[in-house]
Formats: sequence, C-alpha cells, structure tokens
Amino acid sequence: MKKRDKESLEEFIKGIPKAELHLHIEGTLEPELMFKIACRNGLDLKYSSVEELRGAYDFNNLQEFLDIYYQGAGVLIKEQDFYDMTWAYLEKAHSQNIIHTEIFFDPQTHTDRGVEFGSVIKGISRALNDARNIFGISSCLIMCILRHLDEDAALKTLNESLEFKHLITAIGLDSAEVGNPPSRFQRVFDKAIQEGFLTVAHAGEEGPSEYVWEALNLLKVSRVDHGNHSLDDDKLVIELASRSIPLTVCPLSNLKLKVVSDMKDHPLKRMIEKGLLVTVNSDDPAYFGGYLNENYLAVAMALDLSKEDIFKLAQNSFISCFAEDNRKREMTEMAAQFYKRFA
Ligand code: HPA
Ligand code: ZN
Repeated sequence: MKKRDKESLEEFIKGIPKAELHLHIEGTLEPELMFKIACRNGLDLKYSSVEELRGAYDFNNLQEFLDIYYQGAGVLIKEQDFYDMTWAYLEKAHSQNIIHTEIFFDPQTHTDRGVEFGSVIKGISRALNDARNIFGISSCLIMCILRHLDEDAALKTLNESLEFKHLITAIGLDSAEVGNPPSRFQRVFDKAIQEGFLTVAHAGEEGPSEYVWEALNLLKVSRVDHGNHSLDDDKLVIELASRSIPLTVCPLSNLKLKVVSDMKDHPLKRMIEKGLLVTVNSDDPAYFGGYLNENYLAVAMALDLSKEDIFKLAQNSFISCFAEDNRKREMTEMAAQFYKRFA
C-alpha cells in the first residue's frame, strides 16, 4: 500500500463514528496509571518501572496474559481507582470517535481481594455517566463471570449484582477458556436470564467450536465474543450467519495471544465472506498494543480492506450493540453521513 493511501485509510478509520463491544475495563489500565494508583494505595508492584512492566507484556497464550492482567488489577481498591481507570479509557475512546461503548468488568477479580462490589460498579458507572454528559458517549455495562472459578462463586456474584441491576445490561463469561466450557455455567446464566439480563460469552478464542455451540444453545447468548474457531464447523457458521449472531473480534489481541501467528492469517475477512456479522474491538488495549483504531488499521492493512469494508464494520458495530433502537438508528446515520462526506 502506498504511503498516501495508508494515510487516507488511517484518517478514514480515525474519523468514522464507531461502537466498541468487546472491551475489558481492567484491560485498559495503562502502566503509568497502574503505578500511580499503586503508589497512592501504598502497594508495591513486582516491577520497578513502567518500562520493566511493559517489557513483561510478551505472551504465548491466554493464560500467560491473564496471570499478568489479574496482577495488574490488584492495585484497584477504592471507588476513585475504578473511576480514574474508566475515565482514562473514555477520554481515549472519545479521541478515537467511539460514540458508544459496551464495557466488561470482572467483579470477582476485586471482591476476592476484599474490595466492595459497590466500589467497583459505582466508580465505573460514575465515569460512564460523566462521559455521557461531557462527550455524548452512550454506554452499557456487561458483568463477566470468571470461568476458572466455580459455579457457587458465579452465583454469589450474580446475587451481589442484583442490587445494581439497573446499571447492568448483560452477563458475560471470560477468563481461561480451555477446560472451562460454557455448560459449567448454564444454571448461572439461566438465573441471569430470569432476572432480565442479556447474555454474551467468550467462546472459540482458544476453545473449540463446540464451546460456541454451548454458548448459543445453553447460555442463549446474543453475541459471541471472539468466536474465531467457529470457522472450523460449517454448520455452526450457517447457524451464526442465519441468526445474525454478532462476533466481537479482536485482531491485536489474537496476534498478541498467538490465536493467529500473523495478522495476514487473521480470519476476519473469511468471516465476512461467509456472511457472519463481524465487529472489530480492542479487548485489553493497554496490554495488546493498540486501542480500537489501531485494531481497525492493523487488520485493514494486513487483509487489504477497503473504506467500504471499514464502513460496513462500523455499521456492524451499531447493528450489534445493545443500545435502544432510536440511538442505534441515530448512530448508524452518523456513520453513513461520514461515509458519504468522505467518499
Ligand atoms: N479472553 C478471556 N478472558 C479475558 C480476555 C480474553 O481475551 N481478556 C480479559 N479477560
Ligand atoms: Zn475479551
């Protein structure tokens, strides 16, 4: 690609309004803020500097990442810590023309250390409210269950969340996938659905296509997070495409965690060609080397995507989001207007 074409594509990606649907708020904690919060909470980190910590962000698989990610989240104690982390992400999101964001949070990572559930959700929600008022960013919260922990722990967390039900849109499933199939949490998700929550789940990131089937059939998910291994099963692809189940794909995450060995091998284009409803997302941007626009650019360059492809991916993000219908229409129209003006 010529330098001028790359710059024009970059400008297009930067400018187009878009939604982010797969973003772990704990995965936005940049080393600088991590050190600052650790210091004010009187905590010592295992690393002596920001550079040393960044140097450790070299992963061979999901588990190696999770070990460092949970360690990093250990500095978060007070409501203000959760506010500051979330606000930093929202400023970044605003600078990237993200106009709607759906944020995962992992309460068990914090409540297991004695942090109050209320401190976590109040800090995050206050920042989301401020971003709504100041930047016009709409948002919702998705509470994730840690699948490496057991069903009782998940049920306890679901019960704790009920007091804050008005702040939570959906229940998700994350953490170490292989060996922790969605079926382990069917009863938890049944209860979540009874309580009125939507459901989503990480599936087919490192795990097999069977886990995606379980997420659909047992957890009744509205979206599949990642879903890369869905492509191994033609019947599953037909099921996902015919039901327009969105996949929240995370290109730089896939590269950093070696789900793909080269961005040129990334399945995103094949997914689109098979009629799947694909969205681009950043997952844990502080750890994976890029926020949303960097994910769009990396995958666009590697797979030779056009501006029309980027426009469709942005449209998919609005089609797939959990916002109210009138807000969805408004956002879709904003992207269409941008595309018309740019083209
Ligand atoms: N997969 C599973 N769990 C996670 C991830 C992920 O990519 N990021 C944060 N928790
Ligand atoms: Zn994720």
